[in-house]
Amino acid sequence: MKVCIITFGCQMNRLDSDLVSDLLRASGYAVVADRELADVVLYNTCSVREHAEQKVYSRLGRDAQLKDKPAIGVIGCMAQRLGDKLLKRCPAVDLVCAPGRLYMLPELIENVSAGGDVLALDPLRTESLDSDSEKRLEQIDMLRSASGVSRQAFLRVMRGCDKFCSYCIVPFVRGPERSRDPKHILEEAGRLIDAGRDCLTLVGQTVNSYRFAETGFGDLVRQVAGIEGLRRLDFVTSYPVDFGSDILEAMRDLPNVCTYIHCPVQSGSDRILRSMNRGYTRSEYDAFIDMAYEIMPDVAIASDFIVGFPGETEEDHEASIDLIRRSGFKNCFIFKYSPREGTQAAKKLADDVPEEIKRERNNQLLEIQREEGFAHHRKRIGRSFEVLVEGRSPRFDKQQEPPSSESTQMMGRTMGNHIVLFNGPENLAGRFAKVRIAGANDLALLGELTG
Ligand code: 5AD
Ligand code: SF4
Repeated sequence: MKVCIITFGCQMNRLDSDLVSDLLRASGYAVVADRELADVVLYNTCSVREHAEQKVYSRLGRDAQLKDKPAIGVIGCMAQRLGDKLLKRCPAVDLVCAPGRLYMLPELIENVSAGGDVLALDPLRTESLDSDSEKRLEQIDMLRSASGVSRQAFLRVMRGCDKFCSYCIVPFVRGPERSRDPKHILEEAGRLIDAGRDCLTLVGQTVNSYRFAETGFGDLVRQVAGIEGLRRLDFVTSYPVDFGSDILEAMRDLPNVCTYIHCPVQSGSDRILRSMNRGYTRSEYDAFIDMAYEIMPDVAIASDFIVGFPGETEEDHEASIDLIRRSGFKNCFIFKYSPREGTQAAKKLADDVPEEIKRERNNQLLEIQREEGFAHHRKRIGRSFEVLVEGRSPRFDKQQEPPSSESTQMMGRTMGNHIVLFNGPENLAGRFAKVRIAGANDLALLGELTG
């Protein structure tokens, strides 16, 4: 049987899809990239905004029309949020499996044709975690195959989230925060590195809140970074007030730890931050930014903003603009507020900022970040960086232009996660190259290969 996994959403889902591929291969399935060839199609889904769910619904709608429909499964956050509603409402759907039950997938797929149970959900947050399923979940990470096509690999350090930001569905669909045993993380990292996957990204919903007994996130970073053969280590996503100076010092001191931090602020206004239940003030976020630049003057910081949160005034919006102007971000992701059923914001606050204003504020923040992003990248002109080459620059793939015989536009990344575009041979993909920066735009550095 052939299975195709189609992934939506964040790094957590990309990691889960990798692990599910390994699990299914170990159970005798072939995992294919082309869905036309597949007997089973699994959508690994995201619930963070309405739009993310709409994309999946439209796929499911099209699938329902297919003559030779493969078996269709919905896994990930939408599976947990909607449960058997997906089976009832979407005729295309044959199985539903929550993020914390992924170890059951081989069995669920068999049940589709054998007629057994096709719904596996996590316990509600109010019930206690069941230790048997926690162990089986941990085994999916531990039993993953270390090999892979890319040098880069994700590595989970924690599950779930306990922050309960008022707009966010994640604590409900991914469950309580649990940090993994550092022994397991180090063992998994070692196996990945031995298999040539020497650029690791530690992932967690609030990755720097990691704590397991005496081991904090700074300690974990030092321990993983110390493994022989690791070329690059980075981590996503960070939570501002759990960023101690020890983590920043580890980043500064260890040559293989990337100088990049993705640390969403969501808003520059204290009033809105309070209403979002973010757990920090504007000046505390500013203090984090100041400390980061003080310890690592060269650090690249990225952020997220939500515009049009309930009650957001023009003055609140100005505060977000001001924060972007002062923070020197490399890039920002800007989202329009989307009410999520069951969250405190959806229950208690009217979605009262008109769509048109949300769009305007979104565009305005994007435009200001474009200017700031350009300034951020321009500062790197004249310097040389070691880049990890990912492949041809995606622009070319879209145009489907045949590559020239010797060189084509390639894309790589610096330790600061800056995108670097340069001309070079295609066989550099997956290797490190030295590039001198000659130009910049708001999203990338433009360079020349020097070695
Ligand atoms: N509406 C809009 N954006 C949201 N995010 C999370 N929940 C919502 C929501 N309900 C954004 C936040 C977060 C990113 C992953 O998605 O900015 O950092
Ligand atoms: Fe959601 Fe807040 Fe947790 Fe991030 S920290 S996953 S925004 S609840």
